[in-house]
Amino acid sequence: MQIIRRKAELRDLTRSWRQSGKTIGVVPTMGALHAGHLSLVEAARARCARVIVTLFVNPRQFNNPEDLAKYPRTEESDAAKLAPLDVDVLYLPEPEEIYPEGFATTVSVTGVSDGLCGATRPGHFDGVATVVTKLLLQTDADTAFFGEKDYQQLQVVKRVAADLDLKTEIVGLPTIREEDGLAMSSRNLRLCSEARETAPVIGRVLTSAANVIARGGDLSLALETARQALLAAGFTDIDYLEVRSDPDLAPMAKADRPGRLFVAAWLDGARLIDNVPVLPP
Ligand code: PAJ
Repeated sequence: MQIIRRKAELRDLTRSWRQSGKTIGVVPTMGALHAGHLSLVEAARARCARVIVTLFVNPRQFNNPEDLAKYPRTEESDAAKLAPLDVDVLYLPEPEEIYPEGFATTVSVTGVSDGLCGATRPGHFDGVATVVTKLLLQTDADTAFFGEKDYQQLQVVKRVAADLDLKTEIVGLPTIREEDGLAMSSRNLRLCSEARETAPVIGRVLTSAANVIARGGDLSLALETARQALLAAGFTDIDYLEVRSDPDLAPMAKADRPGRLFVAAWLDGARLIDNVPVLPP
């Protein structure tokens, strides 16, 4: 596995791959890799002749400086996790390779980025859309792999690729969970042991509300029951708990079409997010 920090060097390599007819897959990450990230890498490996993993902790998508400062940086152990997966390149761009002096362009998506994390984290999806556009162009990827764990992000990236005529196909893959059902996330490491035991409640509450709704139960009642269950379990604040239609993420007052149930809730100072399908298509 080659480690590359400069876009010019990456460009030389992808150009030579292209000349020999190789397809390129990319998995964009911010590091602190876990089995969720690695599942995306395995999918890329299975589909593409060459695989690039990018690792860049993107300051523009953090709306809270403290969250950015606390974000784990584990470059060496990340590289050690990727090498056995037969990754061709780990791209670790220097900040100026992404945001050169005078940088003044923002990719901003309306519609799918309204509400949910778009409402509670102002500017977040502009930061995501901008950096992902650059990473897809810099890696010259045919296919890019994203997790459904960040379902709204996945829809934002699909919109960017379609609207800007990017040649990269965007593939979404299922959320990987711990044995107790907690969606894997680098933020889980911030939980104390008691909170870590409580955390899987979030997935159970979502699944049971989605089942009630799928059986024809009242949507707002199911959401209120879920909200009470989270608060009773020890979650302190709920940023949102909502059903949105899939894939346009429009608000849904009743379950009359395929949707997804989304939550962001605080436990022990960590903000956990999760989502499950409701009436899948
Ligand atoms: P990061 O949080 O590092 O996640 C990188 C990719 O891994 C995303 O596509 C995310 O959805 C996926 N992922 C995270 N946890 C997962 C899980 N439990 N199961 C399956 N996939 C999971 O998301 C970002 O970084 C950034 O916003 C990025 C797209 C890299 C832009 O900066």
